[in-house]
Amino acid sequence: MSPSPPKPLLLLPLLLLLLRTASTEAATLTANATLPPTPSPTSSPTPPTTRTPSPSIHSILDPKQLRALQSMDIPTAKDPCIQPSPHNATICDSSSPFRHLVSLHLSNCSSDLALSYTALKSLSTLQSLSFTNCPVTPTRFPLDLALSLRSFTCIHSLKHLTGVGLSHFVNLTDLTVSNVPVNTSGLYVVLGNMHKLRSVTISNANVTGYIPKHLLFNLTHIDFSGNGLKGRIPSSITLLENLESLNLSSNALTGGIPSNFGDLISLKNVSLGSNSLSGAIPDSISAIPDLAHVDLSSNQLNGTIPKFFAEMKNLRYLNLANNEFHGVLPFNLTFMKRLAVIKVGGNSNLCYNHTILSSKLKLGIAPCGKHGLPLSPPPAKDDSSGDGSESDSSDYDDGSDDSSSKKEGHHGPNKVVLGLAIGLSSIVFLIVFLILLSKRCG
Ligand SMILES: *[C@@H]1O[C@H](CO)[C@@H](O)[C@H](O)[C@H]1NC(C)=O
Ligand SMILES: *[C@@H]1O[C@H](CO)[C@@H](O)[C@H](O)[C@H]1NC(C)=O
Ligand SMILES: *[C@@H]1O[C@H](CO)[C@@H](O)[C@H](O)[C@H]1NC(C)=O
Ligand SMILES: *[C@@H]1O[C@H](CO)[C@@H](O)[C@H](O)[C@H]1NC(C)=O
Ligand SMILES: *[C@@H]1O[C@H](CO)[C@@H](O)[C@H](O)[C@H]1NC(C)=O
Ligand SMILES: *[C@@H]1O[C@H](CO)[C@@H](O)[C@H](O)[C@H]1NC(C)=O
Ligand SMILES: *[C@@H]1O[C@H](CO)[C@@H](O)[C@H](O)[C@H]1NC(C)=O
Ligand SMILES: *[C@@H]1O[C@H](CO)[C@@H](O)[C@H](O)[C@H]1NC(C)=O
Ligand SMILES: *[C@@H]1O[C@H](CO)[C@@H](O)[C@H](O)[C@H]1NC(C)=O
Ligand SMILES: *[C@@H]1O[C@H](CO)[C@@H](O)[C@H](O)[C@H]1NC(C)=O
Ligand SMILES: *[C@@H]1O[C@H](CO)[C@@H](O)[C@H](O)[C@H]1NC(C)=O
Ligand SMILES: *[C@@H]1O[C@H](CO)[C@@H](O)[C@H](O)[C@H]1NC(C)=O
Repeated sequence: MSPSPPKPLLLLPLLLLLLRTASTEAATLTANATLPPTPSPTSSPTPPTTRTPSPSIHSILDPKQLRALQSMDIPTAKDPCIQPSPHNATICDSSSPFRHLVSLHLSNCSSDLALSYTALKSLSTLQSLSFTNCPVTPTRFPLDLALSLRSFTCIHSLKHLTGVGLSHFVNLTDLTVSNVPVNTSGLYVVLGNMHKLRSVTISNANVTGYIPKHLLFNLTHIDFSGNGLKGRIPSSITLLENLESLNLSSNALTGGIPSNFGDLISLKNVSLGSNSLSGAIPDSISAIPDLAHVDLSSNQLNGTIPKFFAEMKNLRYLNLANNEFHGVLPFNLTFMKRLAVIKVGGNSNLCYNHTILSSKLKLGIAPCGKHGLPLSPPPAKDDSSGDGSESDSSDYDDGSDDSSSKKEGHHGPNKVVLGLAIGLSSIVFLIVFLILLSKRCG
């Protein structure tokens, strides 16, 4: 039993929630008739200095860009250059006589929003452009704009993109395309010329083909999840020594995990789940010092589960479910309690040592027999979902770090039995005592 936190602490999350709701409601970009009237695009913009005490002397946005914003239904009644703008939707530089936009973030656009080539062309000072939930009809991006962008994000927006169109954004350091179909013959078309890229997400984008062999740049984040990528994971990927997260999940990748995978020494999060990868987990992975999140689930990986995972101090998430691993699970309770999530179910030849781990953990695998083979098939009712989620740590990680309380939890039913036994024997003893007493008196 943990002591309940003091009342003010309990109120804190509620307060935060309220604040969040308020701030999201305060600002949405879709212009609405209830907004204050916007100045006519043709009249020169009124200097906002008359009503704001802002010390800025360059607070007038380039009229061309102001018109472009208005054509996109972005409210411009307030100077879009005044910071912070709602959701940081617009950020300006400090050039004069007119300021220019460097960042534009559109979200939750109305479906009749038009994105004209002319408007986009006037925005060629942008370094960062993002669309989130903007189902606007896609248009060609002017080359000036494509070259000036450092960051481009398109999440569930623009209906579809083309690989050739994206390939013009050669100065990008960050590219995020998610939940938008990208028509391309392969990732190399999109990425081939982006030599400055640091972080790339092209997920749920219906991209097929192979993972390019030459990803020879300074990438720190790769997410190609949820596409139709096929073939092997190129071993050249291990050259990306700054790579911190790699997500190739939900594709059609085959072959083994490259044996020199451990060369990815900066890696923290890796997900290769839901592919058709085979072979063993390479030993070299033990050399990656800061691994926190490992998802290799739903492949055809085999061999034994390596012990070295237990030595990884930062590991919090380990999902090895639904593979073909065999042998004895090499983990003890101390290790398993340290993880937020561990899943090993759906490996029919894997078993756990019941002198080390309790069946209460519901790992979704059978206990081992004498020779390290599963004694019986794992209980079917625990495996209903088939994704190994029954081994979710919530079974034994309920916020308490005290292992003795854990044991109590596991032996709870035994205590009830013990209590009953003591109760019953006391009653029997009492009856015998009474009988003896009555005999002596009688
Ligand atoms: C967009 O809509 C989503 C869901 O309706 C909401 O969570 C989000 O805060 C909105 N974003 C903006 C910038 O209005
Ligand atoms: C303002 O926007 C909301 C949500 O998009 C919409 O339901 C409402 O009808 C709009 N109001 C006006 C006056 O256009
Ligand atoms: C706006 O950007 C600033 C600086 O980048 C950041 O600190 C702030 O949290 C952002 N605000 C919102 C609402 O995203
Ligand atoms: C972007 O890249 C192009 C071509 O590689 C280069 O000529 C140009 O100077 C870059 N643009 C900016 C704004 O850095
Ligand atoms: C996904 O790609 C296939 C061809 O590779 C195409 O036939 C299909 O229409 C695409 N789906 C979407 C939603 O674009
Ligand atoms: C994809 O691009 C190819 C070649 O440019 C074109 O023939 C095809 O119609 C495009 N498919 C879609 C779904 O846009
Ligand atoms: C990679 O990044 C490092 C540090 O961020 C930098 O020193 C190096 O020049 C970059 N290399 C390339 C090829 O961009
Ligand atoms: C990988 O991508 C999938 C689907 O896009 C997502 O659910 C998962 O959390 C990602 N994993 C990591 C480690 O980022
Ligand atoms: C593991 O799978 C690989 C490739 O599918 C196979 O060659 C190998 O024999 C398997 N090893 C074991 C121990 O099952
Ligand atoms: C990496 O994994 C950790 C632990 O599961 C998670 O909290 C974090 O959000 C992940 N980061 C990324 C970039 O996926
Ligand atoms: C559990 O396993 C770890 C790593 O193998 C080891 O350091 C630790 O001593 C073990 N704890 C117990 C209680 O056996
Ligand atoms: C289970 O663990 C005990 C104690 O560490 C050990 O003696 C026994 O050999 C193990 N059994 C198997 C099948 O590994």
